[in-house]
Amino acid sequence: MKLGSFESVHIGAPCLLEALFRKESNCPQRLEIKPWKAYRDYRDEAYGLMILEGKDWQRVRSAFQQKLMKPSEVMKLDRKINQVLADFIERMGTVTDANGRIEDLYCELNKWSFETICLVLYDKRFGLLQKEVDEEALNFIKAIKTMMSTFGKMMVTPVELHKSLNTKTWQDHTDAWDHIFKTAKVYIDKRLSTHSANPADDFLCDIYHSNDLSRKELYAATAELQVGGVETTVLMINSQVLGSNEEYFDDGKQFKPERWLQGRNSINPFAHVPFGIGKRMCIGRRLAELQLQLALCWILKEFRIVPTDLDPVEMNHSGILVPSREMPVAFIRR
Ligand code: HEM
Repeated sequence: MKLGSFESVHIGAPCLLEALFRKESNCPQRLEIKPWKAYRDYRDEAYGLMILEGKDWQRVRSAFQQKLMKPSEVMKLDRKINQVLADFIERMGTVTDANGRIEDLYCELNKWSFETICLVLYDKRFGLLQKEVDEEALNFIKAIKTMMSTFGKMMVTPVELHKSLNTKTWQDHTDAWDHIFKTAKVYIDKRLSTHSANPADDFLCDIYHSNDLSRKELYAATAELQVGGVETTVLMINSQVLGSNEEYFDDGKQFKPERWLQGRNSINPFAHVPFGIGKRMCIGRRLAELQLQLALCWILKEFRIVPTDLDPVEMNHSGILVPSREMPVAFIRR
């Protein structure tokens, strides 16, 4: 694919992905997110997991790996996830209209995932699921949205040019990251000082005190987890093409959730990789899966999910894949 000055190769065949996986090094490299690096260099901040490479990536990854990828550790986060879900279900009751439609479902889901990742990382409720939302919380989520919507432009046109011309895109991207870092630092510092008496009980404190991480590295890695927790970027492994390959999935382009009832063993592991693969696989995978499974339990207990029309839903590329129109679903109370 060639987008402006940005050229990339997309892997869409499971056998090629498998060949790549078998040749993976100890520190695999991924798509270089130059705008993020340019910001960190400009402000003298550290790199986080998504942009680190080599030995430094390995060191930071192993600091977070245990807490985020070990099932018995992730399970301990269920209380926090459920706490937010209880509020989410209550909110669904207030934002569904008489026909069970939610006006901006995508935005509601974003608020839910944001609220959960903040509670996990900072032990703080932002109140995004309340009727009156605090300005501080709205500005934080807005900064993440702005950063996500501006960095794409600087992936396809040289970021150094944006920086030297001080373009609006560069300014907005810089202001957005400034806001993200400023806010994340306040909550990380608060959390580290509150839990310093008993660091083992706390997610971030434990990671910080049991590993060789500087405070600066902790800020950067946490800010990127925060971004990953709200919006997730599909990198060069084209999981959408892989996952709709007719050779591996009957009617691969059709929405057929029942295909997953066959059990995992019947699915080629290289044809279904929504979280990537190998040593650089998504570090938030277990957290995301637990969140999604618990959310489904809560929602299905209260609501029936029904289609509102049968027209196809196309996909738009917006850094991540998003539906081209409001999802045609309604939530009918049981
Ligand atoms: C449904 C939800 C999610 C999806 C589909 C998803 C997908 C992905 C994918 C495809 C990658 C690239 C993997 C590769 O290159 O092989 C990735 C990386 C990453 N994700 Fe996620 N993700 C999700 C949720 C999360 C959450 C909740 C967090 C934060 C807690 C997160 C943090 C990250 C980070 C930090 C990386 C970079 C890892 C590294 O390079 O070491 N993601 N994600």
